[in-house]
Amino acid sequence: MGIPFIDLKTQYARIQEQVNRNIQNVLEHGQYIMGPEIREFEAKAAAFAGTKHALSCGSGTDALVLALMALGIGPGDAVLTTPFTFMATAETIALVGAVPVFVDIDPATYNMDSDKLAAALAGLKASRPDLTPKAVMPVDLFGLACDYDRILDIAKSNGLKVIVDGAQSFGAEYNGTKTAALGDVACTSFFPAKPLGCYGDGGACFTDSDEIQALMVSLRVHGQGTDKYENVRIGMNGRMDTIQAAVLLPKLEIFPEEIRLRNEVAARYAEGLKNSGLVLPVVPEGCVSVWAQYSVLAGSGEERTAIQARLKEAGVPTAIYYPKPLHLQTAFANLGHKPGDMPVSEAVGERIFSLPMSPYLAEADQQTICAALCG
Ligand SMILES: Cc1ncc(COP(=O)(O)O)c(C=O)c1O
Repeated sequence: MGIPFIDLKTQYARIQEQVNRNIQNVLEHGQYIMGPEIREFEAKAAAFAGTKHALSCGSGTDALVLALMALGIGPGDAVLTTPFTFMATAETIALVGAVPVFVDIDPATYNMDSDKLAAALAGLKASRPDLTPKAVMPVDLFGLACDYDRILDIAKSNGLKVIVDGAQSFGAEYNGTKTAALGDVACTSFFPAKPLGCYGDGGACFTDSDEIQALMVSLRVHGQGTDKYENVRIGMNGRMDTIQAAVLLPKLEIFPEEIRLRNEVAARYAEGLKNSGLVLPVVPEGCVSVWAQYSVLAGSGEERTAIQARLKEAGVPTAIYYPKPLHLQTAFANLGHKPGDMPVSEAVGERIFSLPMSPYLAEADQQTICAALCG
């Protein structure tokens, strides 16, 4: 058995009884759509995040679409975000008819460079008077909070809404607050490989606003009004399956402990790789990462290829998040970007790779990984 990149089996062995019992309960009560586990999970997730409301939905992608729609973002609007992220971030902005405007990343944290946000906003206002800047969508990449003091401040002084793409960061903290409690709406994903994952697709939106919550509740079920067959706006089918909520409930219980274990694994990497010559991840003061990925930088693209081959040989899986930033993706060719437009994202994309990460990564396996990297 090789070292798993993400170890879901060990976790399942730990909570098998509760998960199986919960799934069995759903099979017996038969409320597969919006069953009681949905409400129970939403209440517990909101309590965990420290928000007034949590709205479960079908995926992290659905969560972003629901948030954008609830904030009234659509054609003619611009949303500032990062190009160094998963497709869904900018895709959802385009999906609602708005234009994603990319802001390059900070070379140390790989998150949106808050210094470049104000400049990008000024540039946007000057070059695209046809667009109304409506929101910022920062992404807590790899489970690490963005520079929220600055981002929230710039957003506030420019009348922009903030949608946190926390798909990778559920549980992460910024100055003692969960990032799910920041911005107007924070969105997350419960894709199986995420720090808190279900056994299929799932996601959630978090907000303190009754008004936004009410809109998202309606949008999640085809824009329904007070009655099931009264539709007051265009919405979608964005519900989470009851079975996924049933799976998430026991996982949420052990999640605080798992976050602690993830941080222990990250600390062991930091110690074991300090002489590896790789650039290791940084965690700014006041942040607690949930380590969705432990990502390091090789000296160059060629060095990365060689290291990945060496690790493969030693039975160590690796992955690259993300080899091609979004501004260079064919899907966004209409935005007219060219190589060199987002130099930090492009350079990091050439050198970055991620190592196995899970709360249950065995110390012996980690030693194997570190030895292969330091050799
Ligand atoms: C940064 C980011 N945003 C959005 C998503 C979309 O989440 P989902 O796959 O649950 O739709 C992901 C998931 O991979 C992600 O990593």
